[in-house]
Amino acid sequence: EQNERDSLFIVSDFANKHFQHNLHQHEQGGIGQSYLKQRGLGAHTIRKFELGYSLDEWSNLTDAALKAGYQQEYLEATGLTIVKEEGKKYDRFRGRVMFPIHNVSGRVVGFGARTLKTNDKKSPKYLNSPESEIYHKSNVLYGLFQAKQAIRMQDLCYMVEGYLDVLSLHQGGIENVVASSGTSLTEGQIKLIARYTQNITVLYDGDAAGIKASLRGIDLILENGLNVNVVTFPEGEDPDSYIHKVGDTAFKAYLQEHSQDFISFKTSLYAAEAKGNPVKKAEAIREIVASIAKIPDSIQRTVFFRSCSLIFDIDEQVLISEYNKMQLQGR
Ligand code: GTP
Ligand code: MN
Ligand code: MN
Ligand code: MN
Ligand code: MN
Repeated sequence: EQNERDSLFIVSDFANKHFQHNLHQHEQGGIGQSYLKQRGLGAHTIRKFELGYSLDEWSNLTDAALKAGYQQEYLEATGLTIVKEEGKKYDRFRGRVMFPIHNVSGRVVGFGARTLKTNDKKSPKYLNSPESEIYHKSNVLYGLFQAKQAIRMQDLCYMVEGYLDVLSLHQGGIENVVASSGTSLTEGQIKLIARYTQNITVLYDGDAAGIKASLRGIDLILENGLNVNVVTFPEGEDPDSYIHKVGDTAFKAYLQEHSQDFISFKTSLYAAEAKGNPVKKAEAIREIVASIAKIPDSIQRTVFFRSCSLIFDIDEQVLISEYNKMQLQGR
């Protein structure tokens, strides 16, 4: 099946070049360009991440690819072309800004695509390529190809939610940043990061969905034996909106000042509720112990039990016996 995979890589590469050509050379490309400009992205970032544009036509890419001799089979297998029952062919991505997704070695495996319409309830804000022989979503991180050197150098990886978060931070000089776009963080993605660093800082959106995703992400990262910190943003802001609001320098300072380990993060999350309410306080402690329980390394666990015991002013032995109880219950 190496041949099939190669064919999918080759057709994805053709599409990537086609979308970039549209953005930079086609008369319709100006729409995409002004959208990206409005989002604060400059020419250098656009080129570096190979952003493109899919024309607002039914089958512009499919027609061009077939004419150039690419086989329909592979266009379909990558999800670039959709074939209706009547045999009518059309492009999956139309009238969208295109974000090619590269694997670690820099080959295009799929695309994310954003509508330019700001308030259209009918079409989804983002469309993504479907899974294929070359695109396994749970084993790909958006931006890793462009970030991997910086991740190794800084010995730290920032995790964000979206394509634009990666691009805006990268442009602002924070190059060690990736997104799990399109899925919630997976074990496969954490293992990819672990090739370059053991340290992840999660920068999710300042909304309920972002906080929920952070909590899930934290436990998964701990389970895999990596260290995790969290930075939260003001309600309604995400890393992209916030770096544009405050500027690169202030944003970097914000990251330094607001980076919390997972215990402080969980503590502050539950602190308001827990204050003066022993039942809530006990719940908060149990949540934190449950996270500590995920850490495979026993010395690290001991350190975190100590820190939790200080924060909540509770005896370490109580935490440890709670932990032992969880182990027995198989939590
Ligand atoms: P912008 O509005 O362009 O700034 O997008 P965002 O990245 O801030 O979007 P949001 O915080 O709403 O979602 C985070 C990520 O989830 C996006 O980058 C996408 O990868 C994904 N996502 C968001 N909306 C959709 C959608 O409608 N469909 C799909 N498949 N994915 C989405
Ligand atoms: Mn900017
Ligand atoms: Mn969000
Ligand atoms: Mn967002
Ligand atoms: Mn955003």
